[in-house]
Amino acid sequence: MPATIVIGLQWGDEGKGKIVDLLAENFQHVVRSQGGNNAGHTIQVGEKVFKLHLIPSGILHPGVKCYIADGTVIDLNVLKKEIETVNATHLTISPGAHVILEKHRKEDAATGKEIGTTGCGIGPCYADKMRRVGMRIGDVEDQWLKPFVRPVAPLLHEALERSELVLFEGAQGTLLDLTFGTYPYVTSSSTLAAGVLAGAGVGPTAVSDVIGVCKAYTTRVGAGPFPTEAPELDARAANEIGTTTGRLRRMGFFDAPLVRYAVKLNGVSMLALTKLDILDQWESIKICIEHDDAVPIYKKLPGWKKSTRECRSFSDLPKEARAYIEKIEELVEAPIGLISVGPKREETFYFDGE
Ligand code: IMP
Ligand code: MG
Repeated sequence: MPATIVIGLQWGDEGKGKIVDLLAENFQHVVRSQGGNNAGHTIQVGEKVFKLHLIPSGILHPGVKCYIADGTVIDLNVLKKEIETVNATHLTISPGAHVILEKHRKEDAATGKEIGTTGCGIGPCYADKMRRVGMRIGDVEDQWLKPFVRPVAPLLHEALERSELVLFEGAQGTLLDLTFGTYPYVTSSSTLAAGVLAGAGVGPTAVSDVIGVCKAYTTRVGAGPFPTEAPELDARAANEIGTTTGRLRRMGFFDAPLVRYAVKLNGVSMLALTKLDILDQWESIKICIEHDDAVPIYKKLPGWKKSTRECRSFSDLPKEARAYIEKIEELVEAPIGLISVGPKREETFYFDGE
């Protein structure tokens, strides 16, 4: 079956952009189908760093067709700027996607503080969609936009019928899902694998793989519960600065029960573990193995205190890093398929086990 979904298993910023960029060369189509420019994907190609908010991370591959599907909400100013920074000749935007208006941004700025929203107007725009008073891309007259607008779902159906490979790029993370996340400290779309399909208008029988992306530790931006939060961890040293808002992210240890829950909510078939290198200099590493009334119970593992940036296979890793990865795999009940040890494309390898 020709479709794969990439989904975040924590509170966003797991490194989905990098994983999608890496996988995209094997796909003909890459699709964004929920959320809006609250997302921020940082992708490094060589020495060049790209920051994308709306356009799928597949856009950096010239042969890949990219889509912004009906379930998204679009800020036209952000979209226009982004189109100017990449080669967007292979981009299609669906007329059913909703438009974020000035009033949505204003309302979000005025009311989103308690939740710590990105202030992009996402919640108010989705609220208008639900109230059936929203404005859609198909209603917009701007001439620069017109060449990109075409219904996305039928294009995906045709591609799938031709057995072409389609990659769905989730935005935000599982624990920010409107229904299953840490409500009310969540975003306003469904961030789950099923939500991604609902936003694209593609049925689940098209999907063979769900790749769950998680960091080797945890971060969260904005307010809300975070059981393994550890203020002693240095967000700046980990380069954990929000792509969309420039906020310093909250840092914490790996929370295995939460990731296991996310694995099940999405039907994850393979894990991609990112930012392992951030742990390189930690003396010891705590991993949450269970919760007792939302209080984490930790297991302490020894650190490896050397760089993993040059490692290109599982066997290249220090034995303490291998033990940490195997512990994660066991606790979250999903096989690890990809490991990332730095921001660059080449700082990634497929997990080959022992
Ligand atoms: P909103 O999506 O702007 O309404 O914000 C709701 C919550 O989701 C806030 O805690 C945001 O920080 C968080 N959030 C939204 N998008 C992202 C993302 O792409 N990565 C991480 N957190 C996000
Ligand atoms: Mg992000």
